[in-house]
Parts: sequence; structure tokens; C-alpha cells
Amino acid sequence: MTNKGKFIVFEGIDASGKGTQSNLLCERFDELKINYIYTREPLMEISSISRLINGVADLTAKYNGLTPQNSKKFKLAPQTMSLLFAADRAEHVQKIIIPTLEKGINVVCDRYYASSLAYQGALDNVDEDWILQINRFCIQPDIVFLLDIDPNKSLNRIKGEKDRRHAEFEELSKQILVRDKYLKLSKQFKNWKIINADDNKESIFQKIIAELKPLINC
Ligand code: TMP
Repeated sequence: MTNKGKFIVFEGIDASGKGTQSNLLCERFDELKINYIYTREPLMEISSISRLINGVADLTAKYNGLTPQNSKKFKLAPQTMSLLFAADRAEHVQKIIIPTLEKGINVVCDRYYASSLAYQGALDNVDEDWILQINRFCIQPDIVFLLDIDPNKSLNRIKGEKDRRHAEFEELSKQILVRDKYLKLSKQFKNWKIINADDNKESIFQKIIAELKPLINC
């Protein structure tokens, strides 16, 4: 029987460096010939549900400059968004994450169900227990890296980038709420490691590797 792969998740507010750090980890696994896949939520081009989520985000952004009535018309209720993210995740867990881990391959995943708690829960006041219930099919990660950064700094990084999806979340007051929620979640759940992401990318990466070593020889 093959040993199961390890399920590694990166979480954090927008522009916290999840993309950079998960890339560095994938490069490290490549060098060491460690088997892995990289994946992310929403599932982007792979699932039609995530295309629906992104379509809604695009429409919301497009109409945001118009009257509030127009913008409201195209915005889905937070509960609907939670259900769409959960549906996308069900596809992800059943079709990608579980089969990959069972083959003994590690999974590096950018965002998972804690993102729904942090965004839909903390920003839109969707009931946290209900979010947990609709995500009950989720298997638990072996380790979750919370890349923690001051939202003033992370927002500076994305200033000037146009056409970002889900730009509605990228306001300072919202990012502060999301960060606070993530810090609370890190105490509530097992296997979470808070990584200070306000440092150079190499030092951050070294901290991640140090935490990962007991699980994977990397
Ligand atoms: P990202 O591509 O920068 O990670 O952005 C994905 C956006 O989607 C981010 O703003 C957070 C949002 N999101 C939710 O609101 N709920 C979720 O469950 C997930 C997975 C993402």
C-alpha cells in the first residue's frame, strides 16, 4: 500500500504572498524530485462552477462604477457565494485532492474552506456553523500555512494592478477583518502555522520549510 501524500494548504489575505511561496515550494519539490500537484481555489479554468463564480465577480466589478442599484443587481447573496465556493470545493476534493493523496502524491493548495470562513463569514456575516456544515465533506489538511501580513503592506503590493478578480474584497477595512478572522481560526484549528509574511521571500520560505520538515523530507 502506498503512503498517502501530504495535504499542504496556504491561506492568507489578498496579496499576502501565497502565490509566491507556493511556487517556491513547488520548485523545491521539483529539485528534490518529490511528487506533488499544485492546485488552488477557486478552481479557475477547470470547473464550470468556478467559472460561474468568476463570471459573477467580473460582472460585479464591471457594474461597480455604475449606480448602486446596478451593482446590487449583479451581486449574488453571500449565502449563494458560500454555496458556489462549497460546490466548487466538492469537485476539487472528490475529483482532485483525495485521488491524488491516495496515490501517494502531495497536494499543494492555495486556499481551502477557511477562505469561506474568513471572507463570507467575517466580511458578509454568513453564519460560521452553516459554512462549516456545507463544507463537511472536506478532508483536513496535514498543515495550513497562514501567511500573516499587515493589510497596509499587502494592499500596497497590488496597488495599480488593474482588472483583479474579486477586487470588491480588496479594501483596507475588509482586509483587516479578514486578517483578524484568520488569526482567530489559526487558534481554533489544528495544524495551522502562522508565518510572518512581512519579510523577504527567502526568509519566509525558510520558515515554511522548517515547519514542513517533520512531515516531508525537504
Ligand atoms: P486569489 O486568487 O487572490 O486567491 O483570490 C481569490 C478570491 O476569492 C479572494 O479574494 C478570496 C475569494 N474567496 C472567497 O471569498 N471565498 C472562498 O471560499 C475562496 C476559496 C475564495
